[in-house]
Amino acid sequence: MIHPIIFESQFCIFISEFSEKKIILMNIIDDACQLLERSFTPRVTKIFSLVGFLYVASRAVKSASTMIRSLPLPGYDLAQRYGVGSWALIVGIDSLGSALALQLAEKNFSLVLIDADPNLLNLTATKINQKVPEIEIKVIQADFVNSLQNEFFDQIFAQLGELDISVLVNATGISRPVGMFHWNSESEIMNALSCNIIPMTIFTRRLASAMLRRSEKSAIINLSSAAAIYPVPMLGIFSATKAYIDVLSRVLDTEAGSKIDVITVRPWNVKSVVSKKSPLKLFEVSSNTLAKSILRSLGRESSTAGTFRQTFQTFIGKAPIIRDYFTHYFYENEQNSNLSKQENILLI
Ligand SMILES: NC(=O)c1ccc[n+]([C@@H]2O[C@H](COP(=O)([O-])OP(=O)(O)OC[C@H]3O[C@@H](n4cnc5c(N)ncnc54)[C@H](OP(=O)(O)O)[C@@H]3O)[C@@H](O)[C@H]2O)c1
Repeated sequence: MIHPIIFESQFCIFISEFSEKKIILMNIIDDACQLLERSFTPRVTKIFSLVGFLYVASRAVKSASTMIRSLPLPGYDLAQRYGVGSWALIVGIDSLGSALALQLAEKNFSLVLIDADPNLLNLTATKINQKVPEIEIKVIQADFVNSLQNEFFDQIFAQLGELDISVLVNATGISRPVGMFHWNSESEIMNALSCNIIPMTIFTRRLASAMLRRSEKSAIINLSSAAAIYPVPMLGIFSATKAYIDVLSRVLDTEAGSKIDVITVRPWNVKSVVSKKSPLKLFEVSSNTLAKSILRSLGRESSTAGTFRQTFQTFIGKAPIIRDYFTHYFYENEQNSNLSKQENILLI
């Protein structure tokens, strides 16, 4: 936890740097306006004003409609939409993955759960089956650190057999390594790429063809992150891999047309266990609430931050002064807390 005085002084430095840049920018805009005034007739100036007004109005309408669409509107009947008796495949079943798995089970989907941790797999399957005994659950243990090995995915798909999978949830992801890009070892970087990018790409590649052949619609839910919205220093690999997921997901949405509902989710902080002792912080969302919100948006939206509050957070977070402050603050904070790692690298 950073001390309030350090936080305040960092904020002042940031604001003074920002103010200097702002003064230079204001002078440039002032000069440009004077040049425009001198060179353009009143008619041309009016056209420029109109273009500016239309641009601002269209941005305002777009932002308002994004906010409205993130309200808890009723969703589709997913079992009817994707096929009664079909299966949902959840890849990565920690907090958000297991919340989505339970809610899909409650909507009558049978489940295939894939994760590296066999204990977590069995525990999650037992808990879900206790709550929803009428559905089938299969578990497959797979460590995606090995996802670049030959036949890795063949072995998983051999276990899936001919199941009618209508919903794919790509929820694997690791945020490590943290720190400057060149501080991280190549093996740390390879692990992050293997877990964050490869499973999402290959599961989607193999299932999309089968999904396109189904008579009903299908769905793919891709867990990206708010870290994909703009580059986050000290979290470079995570931020870049989540941007990859976001971009590929949006490409798939266009290519799959109306046959597959593809949604990319860019949440901020998610908390799996919420209690009186450990309540939600202002900008946190519980995994259950987020899962509910994602399933409500399925088929209606192709991208979402999650809940209304997280959509508002994204809207505010995109403002240049807020974005610059947070990336600067995160950068300084992480740089200080990772000094020992940096020193080790410098010694090599
Ligand atoms: N939690 C947040 O605040 C947050 C915010 C933005 C985006 N997201 C994204 O949302 C998704 C779900 O996150 P989460 O909150 O449920 O928690 P998480 O702990 O980030 O979940 C990641 C999932 O990936 C799995 N995984 C990690 N390494 C693996 C490996 N080598 N092989 C197989 N599986 C592996 C984890 O399994 P194990 O439990 O077995 O390690 C876990 O199920 C992730 O993609 C995450 O990046 C999360």
